[in-house]
Amino acid sequence: MDFSGKRVAVLGAGKMGGILLKSLLEKKLLSPALTVATVQHAERAAALQEKLGINVSTDNAAAVKNASIVLVCVKPQVVQEVMGQIRSVVSQDQLIISVAASVPTDHIEKALGREVPVIRAMPNTPCALGRGMTALCKGKHANAAHVETACALFNTVGKTVVVDEKHMDAVTGLSASGPAYIYIILESLAEAGVKVGLPRDIATLLAAQTTLGAASVVLETGDHPALLKDAVTTPAGCTIDGILELEEGKLRVTLIKAVVKAAQRAKELAYS
Ligand SMILES: NC(=O)c1ccc[n+]([C@@H]2O[C@H](COP(=O)([O-])OP(=O)(O)OC[C@H]3O[C@@H](n4cnc5c(N)ncnc54)[C@H](OP(=O)(O)O)[C@@H]3O)[C@@H](O)[C@H]2O)c1
Repeated sequence: MDFSGKRVAVLGAGKMGGILLKSLLEKKLLSPALTVATVQHAERAAALQEKLGINVSTDNAAAVKNASIVLVCVKPQVVQEVMGQIRSVVSQDQLIISVAASVPTDHIEKALGREVPVIRAMPNTPCALGRGMTALCKGKHANAAHVETACALFNTVGKTVVVDEKHMDAVTGLSASGPAYIYIILESLAEAGVKVGLPRDIATLLAAQTTLGAASVVLETGDHPALLKDAVTTPAGCTIDGILELEEGKLRVTLIKAVVKAAQRAKELAYS
């Protein structure tokens, strides 16, 4: 799908908005001349304009005028206010894509006050390297072509999956928050390497490449992780001793609880 002739507005070019903007511009999917962004602070707008070579302002309504696609990347608590600012200029020919956690599509539709197509997307930070994971769902007025457009956009920065909106908070707790959990696991594995005598840089490399390799095997073979784990675990070998420690330390339960808590928090974020 060719986006280079489309006008795209990114409202809230912070961490996630900035990652998406930078990646899509670098991949030449968006044309700098047709891409605009907004932030809250004027000095940040000026710095970002200089850095990205696109028009960046603090005026959401002006950014949305004439845009084909509007990416809403402000914090969940700010979405309502921003929708109020663009309400009078938004049209049914535009596609609104919101990455805000916790904010349902019907809240955005209501705030805009007309039958505008809305897609809710939940990406994660590895989108910065084209290895992201984005789940998407559609609002009441979005059709299959709108979903296809949004998927095409996020496919350029990783993988996409379309889910029912009822699953979006679960997605937030798993794949949007997930990189943070994995970084903690990686950091801990690297510390462990240091504890058993490895230089830190080598320990970090071993931990990160092992995580990447194991994840790639799951994705490419489609095999159940438990089966793959069994293949590493020689009877009376070393791995089973390590696994015993993981089970005693309740790693599984802890990870499950982390996702459950984050998903619960995602339900309330927009209203806090
Ligand atoms: N970070 C993640 O891993 C992640 C993953 C998935 C989804 N998300 C979603 O992405 C959204 C942004 O999160 P973030 O982590 O990127 O936060 P962030 O770094 O704080 O970015 C928010 C951006 O919004 C701007 N902003 C605030 N009020 C505004 C307004 N009225 N009009 C225009 N821009 C305004 C801020 O401007 P200034 O720069 O001037 O302050 C900032 O650039 C959230 O809804 C979050 O749920 C984040």
